[in-house]
Amino acid sequence: MAIFKPKEAPVQVDFDHLPRHIAIIMDGNGRWAKRRGLPRTAGHAAGAETFRTIATYCQKIGLEYLTVYAFSTENWKRPLEEVSAIIGLLKKYLLESIEKMEKDKIRLHFFGDLDALPPELRELTVRTDDISTRYEGMQVNVCFNYGGRDEIVRAARAFAADCAAGKRRPEALTEEDFSGYLYSAGVPDPDLVIRPSGEIRISNFLLWQSAYAEFYYTDVLWPDFSKEELHKAIAAYQGRSRRFGGV
Ligand code: IPE
Ligand code: IPE
Ligand code: MG
Repeated sequence: MAIFKPKEAPVQVDFDHLPRHIAIIMDGNGRWAKRRGLPRTAGHAAGAETFRTIATYCQKIGLEYLTVYAFSTENWKRPLEEVSAIIGLLKKYLLESIEKMEKDKIRLHFFGDLDALPPELRELTVRTDDISTRYEGMQVNVCFNYGGRDEIVRAARAFAADCAAGKRRPEALTEEDFSGYLYSAGVPDPDLVIRPSGEIRISNFLLWQSAYAEFYYTDVLWPDFSKEELHKAIAAYQGRSRRFGGV
């Protein structure tokens, strides 16, 4: 049963049967800023606000898992100024979240190689992770310095190390075991992957986990993504027939 149902949903959403896990590629910040004659960094700030709104709303309607793509392993190619601005926004978000976690009860986790982050920021991610274990609300996974291929290679390395240490046998490895080596260990696969901004590609996001995810694309740029857009995505998802290879 959904904990909250909006009175007027413009499209038909069945709030009693939401997907368990929604993943979002938060794309289009730069173009949003450009259209307004603003620097790209202003687009990232606006995108961060949208993330806050959408995450709060997802928690309200009773979603179990929300995974967002915030910064990819390839995004380091961008100008230093832009990268620094994105890292600064992450820090701001974490500091504010730590204050609000008691009230929001959102569990915050990270997927990605956080070793590349400044130490004080890494420490903040450890703190939010720690606080999260006290709560049972929606789990938000922020993918930061995340790449699907990188994740799989790291998992393979960790598995190989366990084999070398005699803890595992290569021939006994199952898909389920392997999933346990990924950042997403213990998290169910996403049911719905949303990509705003009109791009129709995966861009190295959740390659393993989205094997049977339903995809939803929209031309709306991430900073303009609203609850109504989320409703449209969920309604589209609910109209799909998931067969998982069966009939
Ligand atoms: C997504 O928006 C945010 C990151 C990739 C960090 P973009 O910055 O990619 O925005 P566009 O695609 O250039 O419009
Ligand atoms: C994907 O967007 C990464 C994030 C949204 C964090 P990009 O903007 O980096 O992807 P491409 O370059 O258009 O494929
Ligand atoms: Mg982009």
